[in-house]
Amino acid sequence: MEVQACHFYLLSQFLSPYSNKREDEYGGDCPGPHRFLRQVIEAIRRRVGDGPLLSCRINGIESIETDSVFRKATQIGRILEKAGADLIHVSGVKRAIKVSYEGKTYTRLVAALTNEDPPGSFVDVAFRIKQSVSIPVIVSGKIFSPALGESILQQGKADMVAFGRQMLVNDRFGRFLYEGRANELKQCTECYTCLQCLIDGGPGRVSVESWVV
Ligand SMILES: Cc1cc2nc3c(=O)[nH]c(=O)nc-3n(C[C@H](O)[C@H](O)[C@H](O)COP(=O)(O)O)c2cc1C
Ligand code: SF4
Repeated sequence: MEVQACHFYLLSQFLSPYSNKREDEYGGDCPGPHRFLRQVIEAIRRRVGDGPLLSCRINGIESIETDSVFRKATQIGRILEKAGADLIHVSGVKRAIKVSYEGKTYTRLVAALTNEDPPGSFVDVAFRIKQSVSIPVIVSGKIFSPALGESILQQGKADMVAFGRQMLVNDRFGRFLYEGRANELKQCTECYTCLQCLIDGGPGRVSVESWVV
């Protein structure tokens, strides 16, 4: 099971200085902002016992890559390990956009990487986290080719890689890898159709090109 503590969902809102403006024991400096996530992980671990694997997905980067952001991510990694997580899954948020809802404009930090972002944008921070914990680290985010995934693993930057849009473009992604047919995989063109649906709040769509064999 995986606890979603990234992309500015509730748990992630507590962790981030962008959104946590609290003045009680869940805000302020460390350990306040981490308290809620730690309590959730500890409570799940108590409830399910030692058996089931418990992963937690966090923002490695929030909009900007700085040393202090990296340090904060490694600190969260250590807290997760201590609280009983078995795996840490590193994603992140690279930019903010303006969205309108019921006549008001809001700033929204966007989870998905765009074609302006380099492949494997969260690999460096995943590696930093990996160096400071002893549990395995998963990394996701524009790891579009199995070859890139393999090189991340070979270089010891992460213990596992996760694929997102490649699974939308290739409905038999896992089977093709298993059968050694990686060269037959179609590529995500980063047209953003599927992700725009999230921003617009409408029904899910993918580009027609995604499904052309
Ligand atoms: C169509 C679509 C829907 C997504 N929905 C969510 C979501 O509801 N919650 C979330 O945290 N991330 C969501 N994501 C982000 C993915 O979890 C993942 O972090 C992202 O796609 C990065 O992997 P990729 O670059 O390989 O696609 C979504 C991504 C796509 C493409
Ligand atoms: S709709 Fe576009 S961005 Fe989404 S998976 Fe298909 S090609 Fe990639």
